[in-house]
Amino acid sequence: MPDTQRPVIGVFDSGLGGLSVLGALAEICPAADLIYAADTAYVPYGNKSSEQIRVRVLAMGQALIKEGCTALVVACNTATAEAIEALRGEHPSIPIVGVEPGIKPAALNTETGKIAVLATAATAKSQRLADLIGRHAPHKTVHVIPCHGWATEVEALNLDAPSIVQDINSQLLPLIEQGVDQVVLGCTHYDFLAPTLNQIIGGRAQLVGVADAVARQACKVAGTENLTGTGHISLMSTMNPVYLPHALTALGLAALLRKTTAPPQTISAN
Ligand code: DGL
Repeated sequence: MPDTQRPVIGVFDSGLGGLSVLGALAEICPAADLIYAADTAYVPYGNKSSEQIRVRVLAMGQALIKEGCTALVVACNTATAEAIEALRGEHPSIPIVGVEPGIKPAALNTETGKIAVLATAATAKSQRLADLIGRHAPHKTVHVIPCHGWATEVEALNLDAPSIVQDINSQLLPLIEQGVDQVVLGCTHYDFLAPTLNQIIGGRAQLVGVADAVARQACKVAGTENLTGTGHISLMSTMNPVYLPHALTALGLAALLRKTTAPPQTISAN
């Protein structure tokens, strides 16, 4: 159980995707105590109904607060789009930071005015994404691509799965050939697909991720900016927590394991 005198930032996702945000937080805010919780019993979120996602987000938030978290990061675009307002409504005194696709930086950086957004089916059809595009890229051409099954492949650590490569070739490449120069990673799982995407895109478009920006914001609102010392990381999941250290290593984040002081635990979130 973490020391409740110090701020503790709880980071959660349906599964492994939010580890990209955890990695950024550990770099930007090395003194902060962090708890990562993967909702592996319910992954993926992206093909579930709004109501199902809302229920899981509220359960995960509640469980992390019970673990002593003083601030939360919803490290999942899908969960943010569907349920961050409900979570904030339930916990008005807890700072809660979400993740939204980087439409704003993409709109600022595009030279051609053409942007592609890779997202889960739920995020792709969400009103929140439509509003974000309307707000930040009203005069750009924005192609939203629902990437069916990608998060599940990342969960299985198949970072160059044939189905993903085929989707990139058939759906994204034609858009890049038509001038898309910004490719927004609209799901935290897709950060781990950057090498595969870059290999196929070959420098013709820029990938836009938001993990660092989210981590900076979380560090600020959690009050951990001026902390000193070395923070600890606790790893938790709703199913099969022993998988997490293996996944961290496979995803290039093995260094984070040095900040853990206990084996991964099951978190009860019902
Ligand atoms: N990593 C999540 C996101 O950013 C969700 C992926 C999923 O569970 O479908 O959207």
